[in-house]
Amino acid sequence: MKKILAVLVCALMLVASMSALAEGQIVGVSMPTKDLQRWNQDGDNMKSELEAAGYQVDLQYASNDVQTQLSQVETMISNGAEVLVIAAIEGSSLGEALEMAADNDIPVIAYDRLLMDSDAVSYYATFDNYMVGTVQGTYIKDTLDLDNAEGPFNMEITAGDPGDNNAGYFYQGAIDVLQPYIDAGKLVVVSGQTAFSDVATPTWGTDVAQKRAENILSSYYADGTNVDVWLCSNDSTALGVENALAANYTGTYPIITGQDCDISNTKNMIAGKQSMSVFKDTRTLAAQVVKMVGQILNGEEVDVNDTETYNNGVITVPSFLCEPVFADAENYKELLIDSGYYTEDQLQ
Ligand code: BGC
Repeated sequence: MKKILAVLVCALMLVASMSALAEGQIVGVSMPTKDLQRWNQDGDNMKSELEAAGYQVDLQYASNDVQTQLSQVETMISNGAEVLVIAAIEGSSLGEALEMAADNDIPVIAYDRLLMDSDAVSYYATFDNYMVGTVQGTYIKDTLDLDNAEGPFNMEITAGDPGDNNAGYFYQGAIDVLQPYIDAGKLVVVSGQTAFSDVATPTWGTDVAQKRAENILSSYYADGTNVDVWLCSNDSTALGVENALAANYTGTYPIITGQDCDISNTKNMIAGKQSMSVFKDTRTLAAQVVKMVGQILNGEEVDVNDTETYNNGVITVPSFLCEPVFADAENYKELLIDSGYYTEDQLQ
């Protein structure tokens, strides 16, 4: 009899724990847009990894509209999310939702982009954004052999969205490597547009970057002047520059940098139309965030490796920085195909 009872109790406990797993604690995941490939991958990876860990996932994309993201996050809170993971469209625009999270004791992890001007941000998980820029700058320095070559080389710069805190880090990382050569006259920015505010690309839009590149090409390069380098902070902006060059430029094709290894850009790298991209494996970041969510919900110490860099204007947010990797036409197979990130067919 005792044995039967024990078996029954065990079976009941198993059913109870299975239903707890099925019901799971809710994690709200707010992504900026479906327009850019990377955020779809980030969202998919987060969802599948969180579900595999037994959580319910409320995943929303905000069509790059700040008001939509604000109300989506508020709805997640009303629907019982116990942790929020947010990749903000504009770092400073979610104040009300973050206050609501704080009032409800809901921890918030800023995903990839820092949430600004709020003390309601518990953690930040990202790739080392400054290092992304230094990898791009160093690539340009090494490829042109700036320490030895005479130059001068003509350069243009296309940076990211001023509403995204990352954009300044990418820009600064690259400029810190290149500035000495600009000062020495080895790199010449023919348009004269070097300040972040002059080279920024609101919304990171390919069309926005393309338009500015077209203007630069027609104003400064239409007389046959070559552009030797185009520093682009990421792949969506690089694509705009590549489109503009294809339509409006007949000189020697420039070195072009990027970031994300988006499919169109990887194809362009293979075709020789983009020189490199910085690879940020979204699986690595998603896995790290899933780990942090688990640690938060289990009351464990949360894994961080940087407690100094990311001040959001109010607090310095404990962060975990993943390491970005250099990619080009030489190593993309190993990095992207052998690792299962893309299939060969996707890059045809
Ligand atoms: C991300 C980049 C991305 C850019 C545009 C940045 O915050 O870190 O990987 O290319 O946003 O979406």
